[in-house]
Amino acid sequence: MLHDFLGWGKAFAFLGYNDDWREHRRLFHQQFQGQAIQEYQHKMVKEARKLTAGLLTTDEFTKNLRLMSAATILGVTYGMDIRDNSDPYVVLAKKAMHSIVRATTPGSYMVEYVPFMRYIPSWAPGGKFKLEAAEWREAVSALFTKPLEHIKKEMVQGTAAPSIAVSLLASLEENSENSESERLIRNVTGMAYIGGSDTTVSVLGTFVLAMVLNPSVQAAAHEQIDRVVGNDSLPDYTYRELLPYVTAILHETLRWRPAGPLGIPHQVSADDEYNGFHIPAGAVVVGNVWAIFHDPVRFPNPDTFDPTRWLTSDGQLSEDVSDVMATFGSGRRICPGRHFAMESIWIAMVHILAMYDIEKLVDDTGKVVEPSGEYTSGLVVYPVPFKVIFKPRSAAALSLIQSMALDD
Ligand code: HEM
Repeated sequence: MLHDFLGWGKAFAFLGYNDDWREHRRLFHQQFQGQAIQEYQHKMVKEARKLTAGLLTTDEFTKNLRLMSAATILGVTYGMDIRDNSDPYVVLAKKAMHSIVRATTPGSYMVEYVPFMRYIPSWAPGGKFKLEAAEWREAVSALFTKPLEHIKKEMVQGTAAPSIAVSLLASLEENSENSESERLIRNVTGMAYIGGSDTTVSVLGTFVLAMVLNPSVQAAAHEQIDRVVGNDSLPDYTYRELLPYVTAILHETLRWRPAGPLGIPHQVSADDEYNGFHIPAGAVVVGNVWAIFHDPVRFPNPDTFDPTRWLTSDGQLSEDVSDVMATFGSGRRICPGRHFAMESIWIAMVHILAMYDIEKLVDDTGKVVEPSGEYTSGLVVYPVPFKVIFKPRSAAALSLIQSMALDD
């Protein structure tokens, strides 16, 4: 379904290990490697502050998380200024992404199991899936082509904001390269949003859940932030080394409820052997991220949210912190957006912690509303929607939040 009917072959996460994948991966890596993403920190700070301001008045915080994630990635990739979730590009991407969820949910489409169904005409019994696919295919194609067409027009008019897409297209003009390069640029920029948006929303949703369920963790983070940043100024990346507890919260969030509990399945390209098991070529291998992070030997009481697992006895980040990178996969296909993700999520978390107490909602009858702690299922999982209160931590915090709302 993904490849042949929905057109997701343009997304290199779903390509086989071949030269075409290598070319995509190389270009993506150039733009999103650790050093390159330092340039985008100002955009990440800006969107973290818009998110923090938005949380003051929202009663559906996931929408704010979604907006922050879309605005950060689309701003960096295409120079877009996304102001709300009704932006046509966000709507288009949501529709296209929905097709991934449907197509990767086992049992959704019989054609996965009965290949001859691909020959059934769309009007015949059993062929309805083709009509659904045709509509989604259009959205998937537009997701890759529309933004670049728009930017090319803006470049001609001289109104394009700086972005990854603009610099890649400009270098193309200078080198007068061919349409093949433009195909790569289109696919690589399109892939950034697909790879980064839902995953970021999932991690930040889990963070909010972990904070509301663990007030003592929040209190420890508040104590460190107040001591290092003070309670009348805004945090930024310059404080990162001094806030190991906040960084440990990020690591524990990624471990406790991994955004993609089973990663992306891989297919073995040649016969292999592992610990005495024969793995034949063509077998599908699933890296069980959840099991790795919930191994009680490596992580005692794995269901407990405990950031101190990642700290030494004197409160510094321990040498094992890199273990959490298993959430991003491993080997040649490891997530190339991981540096971007770690930067943008960290800055959002530190702002929220600095400004708010995240508390359970109390309903009209005075009863505390407990989050269920349940999760959706799929390739990327989210906490089932729950309500919390974002309460400014002080009068000084409230006035900082209000000042962030005015900044633009
Ligand atoms: C916390 C957030 C994120 C998580 C948990 C995550 C997780 C993953 C995982 C598990 C994979 C598959 C790795 C494998 O096959 O072994 C992957 C692939 C990928 N991710 Fe991420 N990701 C995140 C954020 C991002 C961001 C922000 C971007 C873009 C800026 C991105 C872009 C990609 C791309 C392009 C691939 C495909 C790589 C390939 O097939 O070579 N991801 N990600």
